[in-house]
Amino acid sequence: MLRIAVQSKGRLYDETMMLLEEAGIQLNRGKRILLLSAKGFPVEVLFLRDDDIPQSVANGVADVGIVGENEYVEKGREARLVKRLGFSKCRLSLAVPKDEEYAGVEWFEGKTIATSYPGILRSFLEERGVKADIHVISGSVEIAPGIGLADAIFDIVSSGSTLVSNQLKEVEVVLPCEALLIANRDLSEEKRAILDELLFRFEAIQVAAGKKYIMLNAPKEKLGEIIELLPGMKSPTVTPLANGDWVSVQSVIAEKHFWEIIGKLKSLGAEGILVLPIEKMIL
Ligand code: PRP
Ligand code: ZN
Repeated sequence: MLRIAVQSKGRLYDETMMLLEEAGIQLNRGKRILLLSAKGFPVEVLFLRDDDIPQSVANGVADVGIVGENEYVEKGREARLVKRLGFSKCRLSLAVPKDEEYAGVEWFEGKTIATSYPGILRSFLEERGVKADIHVISGSVEIAPGIGLADAIFDIVSSGSTLVSNQLKEVEVVLPCEALLIANRDLSEEKRAILDELLFRFEAIQVAAGKKYIMLNAPKEKLGEIIELLPGMKSPTVTPLANGDWVSVQSVIAEKHFWEIIGKLKSLGAEGILVLPIEKMIL
């Protein structure tokens, strides 16, 4: 049995639950249940505050955890970083009132900065040789300058809308963050085997992300040019059609090149183009 610590609510919650579900870990979450066994896979899920996850994994209360990089780095990277999960991307940034003239980090000399991430902020300021007063608060950091509690803030920025609505502007990006899979440094062999299987499943999901399955009919004479647009995993599947001048082509394309590729395919005479989502992909 492998115990996974995840955020009980907040920024990572939805995508974490979706990832677990796609990996075949079925949970029936009742309200206020902190520890849940999964169906279909030997794991149990422990729901915690994100701030508590790095320590719980480091000291073995949980075997692995899914946590924001902000919390992992702030708590001193004691657990082992197993994999970057690529979702819940954000950044830890310094922000100042929007009308301030800002020319560089010297601005912070002698100023008071409110944050929930004093460790990361302290090392950044030390590195840059800036002396500032760090004021630790645990929530609603962004209102501190407006109520005269601090001159600036150091906090998570994602869309940036929290900054805008508090009349602040981002001036230094200190740490880009995403969701991480972390593990205790001393797992038993049995637990490591379960973690390996979990990783295999996560990777299959990640590889499929951003990819689409495409099927189309193409005039046989253009097949060469069409195949060049559709490299596929090894090479595209080509099947003959009843009308001998046409073939059916199936392949995988990257979503970000989707519209560009579709346009070129159409101009080569492709018809009946179908694009389907891919759930998982094992290479
Ligand atoms: C963070 C941060 C801001 C907000 C920024 O809080 O403290 O309030 O997100 O996001 P935005 O740039 O998209 O507006 P979070 O929701 O992570 O809660 P927490 O700090 O209490 O854990
Ligand atoms: Zn938090």
